[in-house]
Amino acid sequence: MTPWHSRASAAARLSALSVVLWLLSGLAMPAPALQLTAEEERRILRHGPWPPASRPDPSNRVSGTPAAIAFGRTLFFDPRLSVSGTISCATCHQPDRAWADGRTRSRGHRTVERNAPSLFNLRFNRWFGWDGAHDTLWAQNLRPLLDWREMGIGPAGAARLVRSDRQLSCGYRRAFGAAPGEDDDLILVDLAKALAALLETLVTGRTPFDDFRDALARNDAAGQARYPAAAVRGLRLFIGRGNCAVCHFGPAFTNGEFADAGVPHFIEAGRVDPGRHGGIRRLRSSPYTLLGRFNDDPQRSTAAGTRHVRLRESAFGEFRVPGLRNVALTAPYMHAGSLRTLADVVHHYSTIDEERLHAGGERILRRLDLSERERSDLVSFLETLTEQPRRPVVRKPAHVQCR
Ligand code: HEC
Ligand code: HEC
Repeated sequence: MTPWHSRASAAARLSALSVVLWLLSGLAMPAPALQLTAEEERRILRHGPWPPASRPDPSNRVSGTPAAIAFGRTLFFDPRLSVSGTISCATCHQPDRAWADGRTRSRGHRTVERNAPSLFNLRFNRWFGWDGAHDTLWAQNLRPLLDWREMGIGPAGAARLVRSDRQLSCGYRRAFGAAPGEDDDLILVDLAKALAALLETLVTGRTPFDDFRDALARNDAAGQARYPAAAVRGLRLFIGRGNCAVCHFGPAFTNGEFADAGVPHFIEAGRVDPGRHGGIRRLRSSPYTLLGRFNDDPQRSTAAGTRHVRLRESAFGEFRVPGLRNVALTAPYMHAGSLRTLADVVHHYSTIDEERLHAGGERILRRLDLSERERSDLVSFLETLTEQPRRPVVRKPAHVQCR
């Protein structure tokens, strides 16, 4: 027998042996929760790794700089940035409520139309706000400062405050390398940019799902076995029959786009929230976009999306697909907080009214008619997207003497 043959038959014996061992192990061990197919594995792997790589935002010259992050933190908790002196960003984005407020619709000086989203993982977004009315994090931060119902201090008020207050002008100087100048609009935008530098640091931590996903990537059966069976079943529904991952796609569980998820969008009798349609109109009429003078990137390297956005009728009633990391911490859900719990959200998708959906041809969402167990599996899966251990809560900074 040539060496080649002997090696081949040894290999055959070895593989026969491994089949036997595999069969035996199947008998000896509790049946694995589910054998995932190769296609399922491929789909699951696309939701990681976490956290993804990221770069500073070229449209914001202080993105990623420690002095701006520190200044942003002071601003975030400062109620003097509201006309009444009573409302700060933290009124509606409370650090110990996962940066949301727990209300259906937020309330500043008045109640607004929408639910306050959590502020996690924003640095991976392309559009901001439920309607994508803003193309940068800093432009989004301007909105509460300009809208009287929220804080409404406006450019003149903000500039006056920063110029006259020793601590704030010192923080400004440290962050931007120069004292606040004469241009009120520019000062307001700079405050929003310091706030953006802070918010970019809010990236969620690792979750049980990530451990499972990475164990799958390196073929680590013991690592995979630590993930609860109910979550595996829920995950299968999520990437399979539920079609959830068509929209809640990728490491942050959002494709970054807009869709109609069948959530009623009445604000009150006779008034509807136009969603993305209104967002595109606001974006196009705003001076604070990547196409305007406040973009710090002379190349406008991130402005292509803004340049090419078109107003489509189908955008009416569409909202941004929210990312789902830490979603168990951010109830109530949907753009106006209309669903109280994750079980309610899953029930919504299970019984969705297909007639109401204005799906432009491709039917992604269908009434799923899930069994009670399937619904609870899906909730179990969504709960495994919560970071563990929880990150320490960002606190209001102690008063520091800034010289
Ligand atoms: C009155 C409550 C309220 C206050 C005060 C407030 N926000 Fe918000 N915030 C909201 C609501 C509601 C939304 C959703 C807005 C929308 O989509 O129309 C939002 C959205 C955001 C978003 C977009 C998140 C995303 O997922 O796209 C950011 C960023 C943000 N706020 C930052 C801030 C900052 C910074 C401040 C302080 C300058 C602030 N907010 C003050 C209620 C508030
Ligand atoms: C066609 C795209 C699409 C599909 C498919 C889809 N979603 Fe959504 N999802 C959205 C949009 C858009 C919203 C926000 C809707 C709104 O506020 O009106 C949303 C909201 C949610 C929320 C609430 C998040 C929050 O912070 O308020 C959860 C949870 C969720 N979806 C889970 C799922 C699950 C589970 C499935 C599968 C059964 C699914 N989604 C399928 C687009 C989609």
